[in-house]
Amino acid sequence: MIQRQAVPLVDYRYYPKVWHCSWINKRTDLARGEWAIILADLTHRYNAWATELLIGGLAKRMYEYVHGGDIYTARDLTGTQDIIDFSANINPLGLPSGVKNAVKAALNECLSYPDPFCRELAAALALYEKTDQENIYCANGTSEIIFRLTLALKPKKALILAPTFADYEKALRTVGCDIEYYILTAENDFSLQQDYIGKIKSGMDMLWICNPNNPTGQGCKNSFLVKVLERCRQTKTVVLIDECFMDFVGQPEIYSVQSLIGSYNNLLVLKAFTKIYAMPGIRLGYVLTSNRRIIEQLRLAGQDWSVSTLAQKAGISALNQKEYLQKTKILVKKEREYLIKELTVFGFKVYGSLANYIFFEASRYLDLDKMLLAKGILIRSCSNYAGLNSGYFRVAVRNHSDNQQLIAALKDVTKY
Ligand SMILES: Cc1ncc(COP(=O)(O)O)c(C=O)c1O
Repeated sequence: MIQRQAVPLVDYRYYPKVWHCSWINKRTDLARGEWAIILADLTHRYNAWATELLIGGLAKRMYEYVHGGDIYTARDLTGTQDIIDFSANINPLGLPSGVKNAVKAALNECLSYPDPFCRELAAALALYEKTDQENIYCANGTSEIIFRLTLALKPKKALILAPTFADYEKALRTVGCDIEYYILTAENDFSLQQDYIGKIKSGMDMLWICNPNNPTGQGCKNSFLVKVLERCRQTKTVVLIDECFMDFVGQPEIYSVQSLIGSYNNLLVLKAFTKIYAMPGIRLGYVLTSNRRIIEQLRLAGQDWSVSTLAQKAGISALNQKEYLQKTKILVKKEREYLIKELTVFGFKVYGSLANYIFFEASRYLDLDKMLLAKGILIRSCSNYAGLNSGYFRVAVRNHSDNQQLIAALKDVTKY
């Protein structure tokens, strides 16, 4: 018999769909899985034992890896090492050589513990981001910040988008947070609408906006985000804006709220080295906020050495790569245009993107990811994102030769 616990027993990915469709009125529209989830939730609230009995194998309780970039499973499945990974959105220029050299040189320093305050890195970031060093907290990838922050603040109620990056929900579930979803719809090209403000009510402890959003690639202008921030000031809501992909955006000044951290004490901006400097394996991310109390809480919410010496040195070196950043923007823009044009030819519904990935619907090819994997090409099926059905996919923008291979493989598998 299972114990009653704060961690959900059921697969909550269906929730947005379920709650969104006013289920009292539309009960007959619900699919079998959705019924199972409603049943599971009700019984879970009142009796975990009944949950076990009633839904049995229908509701998932197993850990499931839900991100892109799992080349390891792809290799096992295909029996080949030659996987072209379009499922993780990493800079197609690869790790800058300066960063590689910095990591190699730093190996000699690994005999000591890393600097727990990442002093040199934070100083370099302060110059780069034009802010005070005390406004920066670095961690083992942005994902670590997402979890630490949730653990530190223990929000009771939070608002997230659907679909969006899965770790917000995963982190919030660890503290038993009540999650509300703002559903992004295909009719609105998955972009945030004015009615979002109405969702922010008192009692909402935290809200997360991914900008540009993953997986959709849509951006939210900072003129709108100022309205969100003003409203959140009234409701005392902490605002997390995840700008992990902002460095790929052509005109970040229209979208980023990074320069507003001094004006809003409730604002935290998340940034990643992993994507823009192609170093997901090194792991490095940071958060910018003028709220020093939250930075203290972040320090208290986990180990002191989460950023390795190698990652700190890699970050310091990466911040000097100005030319690399310029080249990245030019390449990503050109290749994104190429891919959008080519993907549209297959009859897919392609959503324009501000970032280094493209989101599209290919409802005639629900197994497109599997069809491509058989050709050694890994793309991200988005069917496990809250708020999405099967038939949605995301591909990273890679270099031209890889992108051509993707298009050739698509021609092959779709017989187009
Ligand atoms: C929007 C978003 N935020 C954060 C992360 C986590 O990035 P990191 O590798 O820095 O932990 C990801 C990773 O895919 C992401 O897509």
